Amino acid sequence: MKVIWNNQLVEREDVKIDMEDRGYQFADGLYEVIRVYNGVLFTAKQHIERLFTGAKKIDLILPFTREKLIKLLSELIEGNQIETGNIYLQVTRGVSSPRNHAYPETECTSTVFTASTTSVPRNLKMMNDGIKVITLPDMRWLHCDIKSISLLGNIMAKHEAHKKGKDEAILYRDNRVTECSTSNISIIKDNIIYTHPDGNLILPGITKSVLFKVARQAGITVKEETFTLKELKEADEVFASSTTMEAMPVIEIDGELVGGGNCGPVVKLLQSLYVTEIETECGIIS
Ligand code: PDD
Repeated sequence: MKVIWNNQLVEREDVKIDMEDRGYQFADGLYEVIRVYNGVLFTAKQHIERLFTGAKKIDLILPFTREKLIKLLSELIEGNQIETGNIYLQVTRGVSSPRNHAYPETECTSTVFTASTTSVPRNLKMMNDGIKVITLPDMRWLHCDIKSISLLGNIMAKHEAHKKGKDEAILYRDNRVTECSTSNISIIKDNIIYTHPDGNLILPGITKSVLFKVARQAGITVKEETFTLKELKEADEVFASSTTMEAMPVIEIDGELVGGGNCGPVVKLLQSLYVTEIETECGIIS
């Protein structure tokens, strides 16, 4: 399998990363997951913009321009012949040796950039049947807007859900729902979509921004306002959203059914509007 390593397309076995890389030692880096449909990147510009915004927030100098990154990712898709799948990319601050928490002087380090692909079909069954979730206190830090490779808080929550045989964990702070361990969360009440506003408590998801754009175009009101755990459980419909899940109906929360345990009409509409967006950018998929 081909991967990108420091702006070169190489075989995965040829990648060598120093054990003192700050990504390995401190999780000092950023990542993105971008979906590919029909061999074409979907919403790549938005993902790359979020990466550049995150890099600015942590004073990380990215080793490429936006244009160069798109070119490299396209070469990677081509190299691995990916039709429907995911690109995972990460950039770390590189080596600082001996180990030292402080950021090294920028002249002394060079960032390490890697990217790989996986073929993953759209999970149509799950998008139809929905997922079951638990709720948990949001124990993460206060920079959740940065797509950091430091994901312990997220993976611990995901693990709790999996231990209970569920798919995802919805997180809350002070009784207000923030997001899920690996996705954003929104509710629908009386045909209005509610979701936590962007800010430092959630990741500004690209999928939700696309979904809200098409929802508003279709005349659905979207309110970027917080909601409580009680409102979550009393919602007509609930959906998680992410690059890999698209608009995913939540049909059970903490053992209680949502919307009778079926994907509701608004989420179904959002799913089909999302497909139209994909097809506009990447060509017909269905
Ligand atoms: N996760 N919130 C969190 C905590 C996430 O990890 C993700 C995505 C999202 C949704 O963001 P987007 O719509 O831009 O994918 C929200 C990715 C897919 C992952 O970590 O694999």
